[in-house]
Amino acid sequence: MQTDNHARRILLGISGGIAAYKAPSLVRNLRVEGAEVVPVLTRNASKFVTETALQAVADHRPRTDLWDAEAEASMGHIELARWADAVLIAPATADLVARMAHGIADDLLTTLCLATAAPVFVAPAMNVKMWEHAATQRNIDRLRADGVTVLGPDDGEQACGEFGPGRMMEPEEIAETVTAAVGTPRVLAGTRVLVTAGPTREFLDPVRFISNRSSGRQGFAFAEAARNAGADVTLVAGPVHLATPTGIERVDVVSAQEMKDAVTERAAGADIFVSVAAVADYRPHTTHDQKLKKSDQESDGIRVALKENEDIVGAIAGVEPRPFVVGFAAETQNALQYAREKRARKRMDAIVVNDVSDAAIGFDSSDNAVTLIHGGGEVELSKMPKRAIARRLIAEIAALYAVAGQG
Ligand code: C5P
Repeated sequence: MQTDNHARRILLGISGGIAAYKAPSLVRNLRVEGAEVVPVLTRNASKFVTETALQAVADHRPRTDLWDAEAEASMGHIELARWADAVLIAPATADLVARMAHGIADDLLTTLCLATAAPVFVAPAMNVKMWEHAATQRNIDRLRADGVTVLGPDDGEQACGEFGPGRMMEPEEIAETVTAAVGTPRVLAGTRVLVTAGPTREFLDPVRFISNRSSGRQGFAFAEAARNAGADVTLVAGPVHLATPTGIERVDVVSAQEMKDAVTERAAGADIFVSVAAVADYRPHTTHDQKLKKSDQESDGIRVALKENEDIVGAIAGVEPRPFVVGFAAETQNALQYAREKRARKRMDAIVVNDVSDAAIGFDSSDNAVTLIHGGGEVELSKMPKRAIARRLIAEIAALYAVAGQG
């Protein structure tokens, strides 16, 4: 696992098979995982995917030619091979696998494969007969023996109409596997992070409760991103249908009061407290022991008296010594203005605000778009997967926490 803090740098080699059309989405998935990508195309790859498409999604200009004097002048191929934390070839055709297995270096991509000291991954994609051919299997075994990691191929329907192994592994899975293997910048190494996630339930009687639409996904993604950044994470979770990410301590709670108790108990031991949970603001004044019966007498409806729940984040932020406190705010109008006020009122160090009136982001969605408001300014993160939002927020929060520690 690497411990330096730069983004993972990935040379993405693309060879000339039909799966090359997925390369732009692979670049996007790699960037969602926090990687910096330089695409390198073989001559035949350009027949399936354009440099323009790759240029639009990558951080760097795609490279194609060993003899491109201008590109070589900006970063020569040996420098490029040294720059990479990983070389990933997806799709890897039978021809490319064969050339790699024999150490041939007759174009930019194969030259980079020989010149790099970084780990090399290949995601083969080809017709099932080509994959099963003895020559290809021999070459794949050779690559494995040379230390190359082979990803897939998947089984299924192929572009040529045949079924069987030979489909390229899905871009999202490739991106997750490779970035996990080369690590994530450990900007929170040595810190203890307490995160709350999900909704709370406020019971009226043993079977009925008041709750909200929070899925817990943003909070869980946040806890996972903090763990990947090296933090020791405790996750206090309301009732959600999500698996516990490995390596995270999870404490399950149901009501706002239970969440407050769980957080209060652990806040003193935390360096950073991130309150992502959608805590119910009110609970029924009385929780009945028995299920309430429908009454024929009250044909004009019934009234439920509510009382206010204590504010968890405000309580934690109000007591010294306290962790660095980050709150979340879901708003449907004047989002930024309300969030600025909320940050000041609850004495949070930073607040993350999202406008939940947009159905494409926020509740029940895998995407989000947020603004982080802190004492020194505001950072807008446009629509992207919740995991990517979580990673970007971690980087921002780690920087703010480091500055607060110096102050
Ligand atoms: O006021 P509002 O509920 O929008 O504030 C949202 C922020 O306050 C979130 O960080 C949420 O976790 C936190 N909160 C809390 N305790 C409550 C209500 C909200 O910690 N009772």
